[in-house]
This record gives sequence, structure tokens and C-alpha cells, in this order.
Amino acid sequence: MKYDFNKIIERKKTDSIKWNFNKNEFNAEDILPMWVADMDFPCPEPVAEAIKKRAEHTVFGYPIELDSCYEAVIEKVKRDYRWKIEKDWIVFCDGVVGGLYASVKAFAQKGEEVIIQEPVFHHFRSAIEDNNCYVKNNELSFDGENYTMNYEDLKNYFHDSKTLMGNHAKMMILSSPHNPVGRVWSKDELMKLGEICLENNCVIISDEIHCDVVFKRSQHTTFASISEEFANHSVTFIAPGKTFNISGLGEAVAIIPNKDMRDKFIAARGAVGSGNVFGKVALEAAYIDGEEYLLQLKEYLEDNLNYFINHIEKKIPKLKVIRPEGTFLVWVDMRELGLNNHELNEFLVKEAKVKFNDGAIFGRAGEGFQRINIGCPRIYIKEALIRLEMALRNRSLL
Ligand SMILES: Cc1ncc(COP(=O)(O)O)c(C=O)c1O
Repeated sequence: MKYDFNKIIERKKTDSIKWNFNKNEFNAEDILPMWVADMDFPCPEPVAEAIKKRAEHTVFGYPIELDSCYEAVIEKVKRDYRWKIEKDWIVFCDGVVGGLYASVKAFAQKGEEVIIQEPVFHHFRSAIEDNNCYVKNNELSFDGENYTMNYEDLKNYFHDSKTLMGNHAKMMILSSPHNPVGRVWSKDELMKLGEICLENNCVIISDEIHCDVVFKRSQHTTFASISEEFANHSVTFIAPGKTFNISGLGEAVAIIPNKDMRDKFIAARGAVGSGNVFGKVALEAAYIDGEEYLLQLKEYLEDNLNYFINHIEKKIPKLKVIRPEGTFLVWVDMRELGLNNHELNEFLVKEAKVKFNDGAIFGRAGEGFQRINIGCPRIYIKEALIRLEMALRNRSLL
């Protein structure tokens, strides 16, 4: 079927955090929300049908994953990422963030450091700090155009902490593809990272929730698929939430080939539930029958991206877009406007009437940047850019 991603679907009167936040936080209804990472599109038709069918059953007791649910995950990972996994390796969770919290509990001792690469999805930091551990920020390098991983600093960190204190982080959380900078890490980059971490006895928790939305010139590599050794020292998270716009159903998958690590993860996860009845049927339908939707979605998003970039280059050249290789989130450098971070946020919401994500929530390296969600009908992007341009003109900032 042909999906119409241009169609506007009213979300204000639903329980959407993205669309109701403005009213609650700013007491304003006229701010265009392009922040939190869900899209303003309907989910795939087979997913909607599976949910309707399940709803008609009318009994919603505690669920368990059937074999078909495991098979859907195994098939998806093999088909899309050429990684052959076993049923035993799969642990269902009710969200990747919950899985990250469980990972820190499982693989880091209280007071230890855990490595992340800021600017990065802010719940990496909260999962570490809320579990009484410390962030070791191996900040990404930025040359004004591109972001890369900082291997030298990482090697030095391991070397120095061994010689000075005798201990160092035993765990790193990787964002792959990277939210918010949009990098789709190449196999070579992942290999370099993995080799450094493994040499230093540091496991990798690879959050691959954005792995499906990757643009034409890039290809996602699952970290654990690179070698058996990488697989045995890692946890991979995937989920249908971002790709098929069903984040509200709270369903995610941890793939943990190493039995010892898996047992620790399951123990740390504790009695927390594993999803809900609708999440399970949705995951199955999405992973088995979601391909047609995904192909069209990626085309639409790439057109959105091109539109967004062309418009900014022509009309708002002080903004610098870091072209993402994947994800529906665009990282924009607004430092040339000359506003401090607080002034920038105030300006966007109060004068331009648009709500993006403040780059600073992703780490100090994100100050002066904003993350803009382009997973929406193109007309919203046009509107946001017009509002931005007019507000900048009014302030003589264009
Ligand atoms: C990198 C990353 N991980 C995890 C999540 C959230 O995952 P979940 O909704 O499954 O907890 C997000 C949402 O934006 C994300 O960008």
C-alpha cells in the first residue's frame, strides 16, 4: 500500500507528550513541537490491524512472548543486519531506557565510571548517575562538519587510569546510529572502538534503536555481528518503537549472546514487566510485515531532510546543519547567532514559536546546538522554517 506521510493527523487531543508539553510547560498552544523522538505519522497498516485484532479479544491479562515473537526478532536481525542470533540470546524489555538502567546495574559497580560519547542521548547519563556511577565522557570529536569517535583519548584514558589508579570503566554505552549527531558508524569505526574496549576488558552496551532509519549512502552494522568476541562482550538493544512509530507501546529487545552477561542482566532487570499485550503483537507485525512502510518512510524522511537543508542553506545560512546519515533527528549548530544557550531556547519558543530539543541536554558539547525532529509531514517543516526566518529577521539576526 502507498502511505501518505503528508497527511496531518491531529495529536493535540491525544495523550502525546510532544503535543501537550507546550500547554503544560509554556501555557501556549501555538508552539510547533519538533522535539521528542516520535514521529507524527501513523504506524504501518499491518501493525494497526494486529493491534485492533488483539483489542477485539477483550482479555488483557499478563502477557508472555510466544515463539512467533522470538522468530520475528531472529528473522528481522538476519534479514536486515545479516546477524544470525539464537532464541536464548533474546531478552524482551519494556523499553530501551529501562534496559540501559538494568545494564548499568548489571555491569558496573557503584562508584565506577561508565564511558559515553557526548553529545549523546541524555538518558545514557541518567542511567549511569541514577545508579550511583560516574560518567566518563569520551567526547566525540567535531571538526565543524563531521563527528568522529575519539580513539586516542579513549586509549589514553584506559592507559592512565590503569597506571594511576589501577581501575577504569568496565562498560561503555554506545549510540549506534548516534543520537543526536546522526552518524551511522562504519564497520571500521566500530572495529577500532571494539578492539580498544575489549583489550581493556570493557563491555559495550550498543543501543541500536535507530538502526532502521539509515539514508541511502550509509549502511548500519550491528556491533555484535562483527565478530564472536564482540558478540560475547556486548548487549545489543533494538526496538520497533522509533522505526514504526510505536514508542508508546513500550517494547524492546536486548540481544545478549554471553550467558553470564545475560544472567546478570536478567537479575538486574528484576521483576520489572516485559512489555504489554499490544507491544508484542505490534513488534511481530512490524518486524515481519513492516518492510513496505519502512522503504517509503526512509524516502520521505530523506526528502524532508533535503528540503530542510536546502532551505536553511539558502535562507538562514547562519545555521549549520550537520547532515545526518540516519535517524529522523537533525543536529543544527546555531552558535553563529551569537545567543547564549538560555537566550537561544527562549528565543525559539517565545519568538519563533517552535520547540526543538535543547542541545545542552545531550552534554556540554551540545550548547548552542538544537536537535530538530523532521519525522513529520513536510508542511510542519516549512512552517517551522518560516517562523524561524521571520523571528530572526525581527531580531536582525538573519
Ligand atoms: C538512542 C535512544 N535510545 C533509547 C531511546 C528510548 O527508547 P525506549 O522508548 O525504548 O525506552 C531513544 C529515544 O529517543 C533513543 O534516541
